[in-house]
Amino acid sequence: MKKFTSVEDVPDINKLVDKALSYKKNPWQHQQLGDRKRIGCLFLNPSMRTRLSTQVAAQQLGMESIVFNVSQEGWALEFEDEAIMSGNKVEHVKDAAPIFGKYFDILAIRTFPSLQNKADDYSELYINQFIKYSGIPVLSLESATLHPLQSLTDIITIQESLKENKTATKSKPKIVLSWAPHVKALPQCVANSFSQWVNAWGEADFVITHPEDYELDEKFTKGATIIHDQDEALKSADFVYVKNWSTYNDYGKIYTNDPEWMLTEEKLNVTNQAKVMHCLPVRRNVELSDEVLDGPNSIVTAEAGNRVWAAQAVLSEMLLAMR
Ligand code: CP
Repeated sequence: MKKFTSVEDVPDINKLVDKALSYKKNPWQHQQLGDRKRIGCLFLNPSMRTRLSTQVAAQQLGMESIVFNVSQEGWALEFEDEAIMSGNKVEHVKDAAPIFGKYFDILAIRTFPSLQNKADDYSELYINQFIKYSGIPVLSLESATLHPLQSLTDIITIQESLKENKTATKSKPKIVLSWAPHVKALPQCVANSFSQWVNAWGEADFVITHPEDYELDEKFTKGATIIHDQDEALKSADFVYVKNWSTYNDYGKIYTNDPEWMLTEEKLNVTNQAKVMHCLPVRRNVELSDEVLDGPNSIVTAEAGNRVWAAQAVLSEMLLAMR
């Protein structure tokens, strides 16, 4: 795998999931693979899970990792080609990225969307400029529109849960992506990416439920059933993935904060004892109730734990491609 920025970089999802689960059983089995290799992890936005799990994964492969919080510690970067840099941007990515390419073997980047300009965000300008100018393999730690390491983790967690609960009689699990209220306008990345991966995986009945006018980009959701009635959508669900996103069509807005959309114990009653997932961080008693998060259906901590194995499987494939 020469880069990892979306599911399109993955030739075989199930093979990658198997590799991740094999690392979970035996984390140090390839501890020489990354010997004398270094990953640079650049954060233009905050992170806890992605940052730490990537570092742990790199260490278990024998790689050195260096974290650089660009937004707090670095020069303000300009990303537009041919920009006249007379404002507050200090350094062009065209000058900075090749230097990262000299220091590191793999460049990992987290950027968020502006939520102001849909065309800019959906062109993935930031991560694409790093790909263009760094000259080394790039790993997305979440970009303007996608969060592939999170989505790989989610598929791993679903597969793991299915193996542990073999009593299921359906040929395919029903997975529901359920919009939740939030106090801030959040990116569509996790929802886009989850949709893209579940669709590409192809081994689930996939339903998305959200209030009207919260449609996501069809490029990612095509193939899923969209239902605006949350209670109807949740019926017989085996997995409920809870996530807020801001509007896509009228870009980056909050149209509603209706607390009725929060996932509660009562709402879970119509599901098939669904496992509840969330990428975290989560706003308790806004997106999900305490009873759900702290209850037996929640697999959010196991899900976050699996971030390590997703990152390790991807880094392993990237290291093998560099040989
Ligand atoms: N889920 C996730 O990406 O968490 P962080 O923002 O803490 O990395």
